[in-house]
Amino acid sequence: SGQIFSQCMTVQSSNYTRTSDQTIYTSNSSSYSSILQSSQQNPRWLNSTSKPLLIVTPLKESEIQAALLCSRNLGLQVRVRSGGHDYEGLSYLCKTPFVIIDLINLRSVKVDVADQTAWVQSGATLGELYYSIAMKSGSLGFPAGLCPTVGIGGHFSGGGFGTLMRKHGLAADNVIDARLIDVNGRILDRRTMGEDLFWAIRGGGGSSFGIILSWKIKLVQIPKIVTVFTVHKTLAQGASKLVHRWQYIADKFHEDLFIRIIIENVGSGKEKKVQVSFNSLFLGGIDRLVPLMDQSFPELGLQAKDCIEMSWIQSVQYFAGFQKDQSPEVLLSRDPLWKSNFKAKSDYVKQPIPEVALNGIWERFQQDQTVFMIMDPYGGRMNEILEFEIPFPHRKGNLFNIQYIVKWDVNSVEETNKHIHWIRMLYRFMSPYVSRSPRGAYINYKDLDLGSNKQDNTSYLEASAWGTKYFKGNFKRLAQVKSKVDPDNFFRNEQSIPPLSALF
Ligand code: FDA
Repeated sequence: SGQIFSQCMTVQSSNYTRTSDQTIYTSNSSSYSSILQSSQQNPRWLNSTSKPLLIVTPLKESEIQAALLCSRNLGLQVRVRSGGHDYEGLSYLCKTPFVIIDLINLRSVKVDVADQTAWVQSGATLGELYYSIAMKSGSLGFPAGLCPTVGIGGHFSGGGFGTLMRKHGLAADNVIDARLIDVNGRILDRRTMGEDLFWAIRGGGGSSFGIILSWKIKLVQIPKIVTVFTVHKTLAQGASKLVHRWQYIADKFHEDLFIRIIIENVGSGKEKKVQVSFNSLFLGGIDRLVPLMDQSFPELGLQAKDCIEMSWIQSVQYFAGFQKDQSPEVLLSRDPLWKSNFKAKSDYVKQPIPEVALNGIWERFQQDQTVFMIMDPYGGRMNEILEFEIPFPHRKGNLFNIQYIVKWDVNSVEETNKHIHWIRMLYRFMSPYVSRSPRGAYINYKDLDLGSNKQDNTSYLEASAWGTKYFKGNFKRLAQVKSKVDPDNFFRNEQSIPPLSALF
């Protein structure tokens, strides 16, 4: 199959020569397994039988065009992989014969300091982007996620948020142009793709509209000095009251102040206890932060000694789990930092969760499992951007996002089922306290529990069950765009956008 495919590629692309055969890997190739697993963040599916017939790692855009057209001609589905961090493994799993187009070799970042913009290819990581910006300027940054190994392609496609979200919005809010290959193999930019498709790719989720090659982004101003802190509290130290209070104020803080909450159970066995961490980035120095905290969140009792001043790029390292004095080159490593079997789910909260329900969460955390809840505050810039400006709809009215995560070491069916059951029960318990009709979820924390497309005939109406959770009223417009640009639904997976025409 590799030979037929590479013959097809030679025919499809005049630029593509036989010397590039090294970019096509079949299951007979010695490096097939290592390439397949290379960026795979969730090892839950290592033993999966749905492996690709081929993995293509194109070196140039014409090879992606050729790989796409050959896959179509040979009746194969395509999975596009940028950073491989998809929560449900959708960039490298498929139930029918398929090809992975892995963009690992398309990872250039070109920063234009004078214009305050950059072009970044989809195969780059967030770490590579942040590093490249910081090497060119000490006063520019970019608002995207915290984990440096996350790929640009999937992340920007689904929104992308991190510590700068309250000041500058999502990564997708700051995309000003893009280049993609459409289903017919044409390369389009913002002008030639038109505003509907350009709207859809900024938050409508990867894998529905084409292969995004690169993104032009607007960089944002960053102060020379920022401040970080992490304050840990146990229940005995009043964590419950602090979490309760945080819900009323975190979305209303000054937009320079981002304080997220990480709830976890630390210790081992019967000694496990709940720990709540208040983890913050402030866009300014300690002298401004401490009075601001005294005024807006005095209950936390933050003191100057809890805070560390640093440059923005050092804060990126800090949030990624590195030390501020490590060299920024640590951000270039593509070795996944927190690789483990996991299942995650998400929610949006519009009314503070009552204390009695917080107690229910603490109870569920008192057990011998590795579990987390991360609460990311919204408000600020997120409130100013309208729900339909890009497909990501969770704006004004949302206090914060919750991500629930459970991790485990042993990859057996029994263990997997046990942990997935736990997280589903927690999710069920939370239902009265979170957004409803629809119960909102974040597409970048992909969750197939919400629903799944059928293999071939995807119905828009059926898909609305999960689509409106991710996209609310924008789901219909996404399906309309899909009908126009890929009416035969070539680009598809378990949660891709179906064409609106498929109304059965
Ligand atoms: P991957 O390559 O797996 O792609 C994800 C999806 O997009 C797949 O369906 C894929 O086919 C499609 N796709 C990828 N590249 C494409 C392209 N070029 N064109 C078209 N479709 C494409 N999120 C967040 O907002 N803030 C955060 O701080 C974090 N932190 C974080 C940490 C860790 C450890 C993980 C595992 C994940 C996160 N995320 C996150 C979630 C992350 O944003 C999400 O998983 C992204 O989709 C990952 O993008 P990748 O390119 O790495 O994934």
